[in-house]
Amino acid sequence: MRRKLFAANWKMNLTPTEGRALIAGIRAILDPLAARLARDRDVMVAPAFPVLAAAAQALAGSSIALGAQNMHFEEKGAFTGEVSGAMLRSFGVSYVIVGHSERRHIFGESDELVGKRAAGVAAARLAPILCVGETADERDRGDTLGVVLRQLQAGLAGIADDGAKRVVIAYEPVWAIGTGRNATPEQATIVHGAIRDALRDRFGAATANELPILYGGSVTPDNVDSLMAKPDIDGALVGGASLKADSFARIVSSGMA
Ligand code: PGA
Repeated sequence: MRRKLFAANWKMNLTPTEGRALIAGIRAILDPLAARLARDRDVMVAPAFPVLAAAAQALAGSSIALGAQNMHFEEKGAFTGEVSGAMLRSFGVSYVIVGHSERRHIFGESDELVGKRAAGVAAARLAPILCVGETADERDRGDTLGVVLRQLQAGLAGIADDGAKRVVIAYEPVWAIGTGRNATPEQATIVHGAIRDALRDRFGAATANELPILYGGSVTPDNVDSLMAKPDIDGALVGGASLKADSFARIVSSGMA
């Protein structure tokens, strides 16, 4: 059975002290549920780079994984402001978000650059969480699947076969991120189905059927259950609602057996 993933994207929030406190709050709720969570889902938190060390300490002994919000594809060199896979691995990072819409739209990251980052993450034996999603204009033009599938193809272009099994996709419509306006389960299902088909074409059905496709964009404790009830929605990438222990823990526990 395909595992779910519930991932917290803290973005540029929380100091090390605040991050430690939030993780302590999340663990107070989730540690007692660890055996049940482990049956069918993984949990990850992605702090900003300077908070990784504190977060790693606070996560010691838990099954919650550590993630990063970006990564460069070269192993080392003159790339001011960037970090490498080896650096992230040294903190115990296992997932890296790439191609988040804020990277694409605020910092101008192209499909090609995102593809190089995703390939670099996979080559570093880390799990790339490749984010894809259309803007409101693109949706209004009827271009949602065109945009998402283009971003997906470019994002996966450099992933070698041995990296395929670590790939996670996050469908995050840009108009839903941080707006309080989530995609309906029906809207998300159409896109998730198209992503699954494209993953089958790219990696073959056996691999593609095991890869989690997350939904992200204004996920809250109130809307998570209806989204997770859909067969191709395999978890969530959560921004705002991941900054409070009780709301993130509630999202993580959605539909738990
Ligand atoms: P949001 O952000 O949950 O605050 O909408 C999601 C994301 O950007 O990953």
